[in-house]
Amino acid sequence: MRRSSLGFGLVFVIAACGTSGSSPAPAPQPSSSTPLPQLDAAVPTAPQPADWLKDVSLAELPDENPDPNIVEVTLEAKTAMVSIGSMRVEMWTYNGTVPGPILRAKKGNTLRVHVKNALPAATLVHWHGVRVPNGMDGTEMVQTPIAPGGRFDYEFVVPDEGTYWYHSHFQSSTQVGYGLYGALVVEPESSPPLPEEATLVLSDVSIDDVTQKLKPGDENGGFGDLFGREGNHVLVNGRERPRLGARVGLAQRWRFINAARAKFFQLDFGSHSVFRIGTDGGRIEQPVSTKGLLLVPGERAELYVIPRGVPGTTVPLMTKSYDRFHVAPDGVPTPLFEVALSVDPPSPEIAPPVRLATVRGLTTTGVTERRIEFSQVLVNGETRFGINGKNGADVPAVTVPAGTVELWTVYNTTKQDHPFHMHGFFFQVVSINSKPVTAHEWKDNVNLRPDDSYTLAVDFDARPGMWMYHCHILDHVDSGMMGMLHVH
Ligand code: C2O
Ligand code: CU
Repeated sequence: MRRSSLGFGLVFVIAACGTSGSSPAPAPQPSSSTPLPQLDAAVPTAPQPADWLKDVSLAELPDENPDPNIVEVTLEAKTAMVSIGSMRVEMWTYNGTVPGPILRAKKGNTLRVHVKNALPAATLVHWHGVRVPNGMDGTEMVQTPIAPGGRFDYEFVVPDEGTYWYHSHFQSSTQVGYGLYGALVVEPESSPPLPEEATLVLSDVSIDDVTQKLKPGDENGGFGDLFGREGNHVLVNGRERPRLGARVGLAQRWRFINAARAKFFQLDFGSHSVFRIGTDGGRIEQPVSTKGLLLVPGERAELYVIPRGVPGTTVPLMTKSYDRFHVAPDGVPTPLFEVALSVDPPSPEIAPPVRLATVRGLTTTGVTERRIEFSQVLVNGETRFGINGKNGADVPAVTVPAGTVELWTVYNTTKQDHPFHMHGFFFQVVSINSKPVTAHEWKDNVNLRPDDSYTLAVDFDARPGMWMYHCHILDHVDSGMMGMLHVH
């Protein structure tokens, strides 16, 4: 009885959410005409197939601190030999793996990370999306890079649940391209019942397949910066085309992170029934049924997935071609990983909970409005990227009073896509090309197509300091598409 009424609620939710969302994903549509029953504490769910995560496992770290509210770990940045397909390649790693170990904490925990630098170069660790105190942001604005042989202790509270990641923020296009990134998952204090999860870090790497060595991070100089370097090996949790176990009909959750320096992933969910349930800054209010998802560098998504197909078969999860106007559209659709369906008989399909979270909407009446333009600029006759017609260090800092909300309209007057990322603060997309967006979602990364304009309500909660905002195609940072943000 209760379930069928919730089921109708779901259909309403899907219809009502049809135009929401900040990524230009295909229009959501109901996955079937009969409403699915809801997942409910009373509904027993079968376990996932044995070893379903074996091929996509991420290294885990022991918590060095007995206090249940403190997660204390050590990350050593070092070069290490890593398997890529049949090759052994020396990459830049955290603790010897690419991606680095997955860090897990609960909302409100203190995360203490001892970083040791055993790399041949200086480095910094940035906690992408986490509302850290300014001094912990891991940029050159707030600390001197950690020299080879040096160390730095990062410590902060993780105030929001969600899917985050950590990555090098020193010579980031090269260092991220070489492998310096990892997942950070912050679990909520309470949640409606949800199925088991897989964290999937998407990335790519450029390897000279003959010498089996990393290609130089600055290959092709300013031209490479301008177009954004993509690797010749696409990785899911550091592996090429790994398998993910699943049982037909039995829901599971996927947390995606795009950790590539420049590559966009246009995920195609094929016949699986998929609902978007979380974004950069945690859960969204209601699930949104979706057939695909564009995930740009830096962006995250949490999905509720009901696998479909024939038991005992393997279904590739594809990334489709996407044209971000770099050199040529990305080639043909490519399999990212294989969904290996167990031989178990199909499990009954259960839809996600109707309500996932409450997201407070920001009030923007009478607030300061700013215009930020992603622009193409000429520097000594050479085409480069910039902000408001200025390049890199010449972009004047934006000064914002701490504890305020502002409306930023970000324009893209260039001929390429650019993912806008802000450090330290979440925003909500208020309108896209003047069309209002009504659903509230916490974002820190949003993609702009050429000529797009996005109006963002930014929540400058009171954490003063020097922050930055930039395009998250990290090569474009090298080209000067970044600005400083002084919150005081
Ligand atoms: Cu994900 Cu400035 O970085
Ligand atoms: Cu860009």
